[in-house]
Amino acid sequence: MNAGILGTGHDYPEGVLTNADLEKIVDTSDEWITTRTGIKQRRKAADNEYTSQFAVRAANKALEDAGVDAKDVEIILCATTTPDQILPSTGCLIQKELGATNAAGMDVFAACSGFLYGISMVESMIRTGQIKHALVIGAEVLTKYVDYTDRSTCVIFGDGAGAAVLGAVPEGKGILATKILSDGRYEEQLFAPGGGTKLGTTHETIDNRDHYFKMRGNELFKVAVRSMSKISKEMLDKAGYTVDDVKIVIPHQANQRITDAVASRLKVPKEKVYSNIAQHGNTSSASIPIALDECLKDGKIVEGDLVLMTAFGGGVTWGGTLVRF
Ligand code: COA
Repeated sequence: MNAGILGTGHDYPEGVLTNADLEKIVDTSDEWITTRTGIKQRRKAADNEYTSQFAVRAANKALEDAGVDAKDVEIILCATTTPDQILPSTGCLIQKELGATNAAGMDVFAACSGFLYGISMVESMIRTGQIKHALVIGAEVLTKYVDYTDRSTCVIFGDGAGAAVLGAVPEGKGILATKILSDGRYEEQLFAPGGGTKLGTTHETIDNRDHYFKMRGNELFKVAVRSMSKISKEMLDKAGYTVDDVKIVIPHQANQRITDAVASRLKVPKEKVYSNIAQHGNTSSASIPIALDECLKDGKIVEGDLVLMTAFGGGVTWGGTLVRF
């Protein structure tokens, strides 16, 4: 048996933050954001909304889609960089809300690559028969970690959650190749230094805005394109396919120009590369599962299709997964 994706779901806040809204907050313009990123709007959680709420709704939709009862899930991995709180993990809070009384819940902390990290981790557990069902969720409320005085960062990120239920599928289907990697030498390309054991939370860290995400977008851009292209090729080679065999490529929705550059390096026509960045912005670990669910529900992916997913995020982290539906 292989591990496969049995069902998916997604959810996001009702609140919308448009480029016109941002023009009123920072020195930016719709024209700059659109041409540099492809983003037109992003979802924004209200003050009383938090990550696990979106995760639970996405997870319930995925469980219903898969026809799997929450009590039959044995592990819940919540990929998030924006947990509800430091302790306990968001995975545990989701486990409680779902009534998944036979599951271990925990978080995967791998920034925008978190969903593919989660998929990679449960893949072998299912393939080897250690567990029957896993729930992998990517969920973020990034707008609460974004510095709305930093125009190069605050225009990028949005909120949302996507989830997938995984279980055994016949050989030839499901996950055909998957790989995750990291390189901590690039830690300062995207980081939030405050609040941990290194700097702690002090008046000084708050005044320095160290609890917010800081990004060197330009440097990140190049590493992202290089890493996602390379690992995508590796996944295809490993499984013995070429890009021509792939129905759709779902890259992490970081920036439309990153997506276009990856497509060009892989020599995939743009029509075969999914993008929803105009509506959602960069939702970090939630971006791939949201996109995947949209593709499945819109009929862009049907049974038998080969789908290539690739992610890149702070750390830096990256990954690739090739799935036959
Ligand atoms: N509005 C208007 N001008 C802005 C701006 C904004 N929101 N943000 C930055 N600028 C300005 C800069 O100040 C700079 O001005 P200067 O030339 O006078 O110094 C100019 O635009 C160019 O900045 P630069 O950072 O070189 O732009 P860029 O083309 O690299 O685009 C990003 C910036 C952030 C959009 C781009 O680098 C990016 O998307 N990188 C990847 C980010 C990402 O994906 N992060 C998540 C990883 S998962």
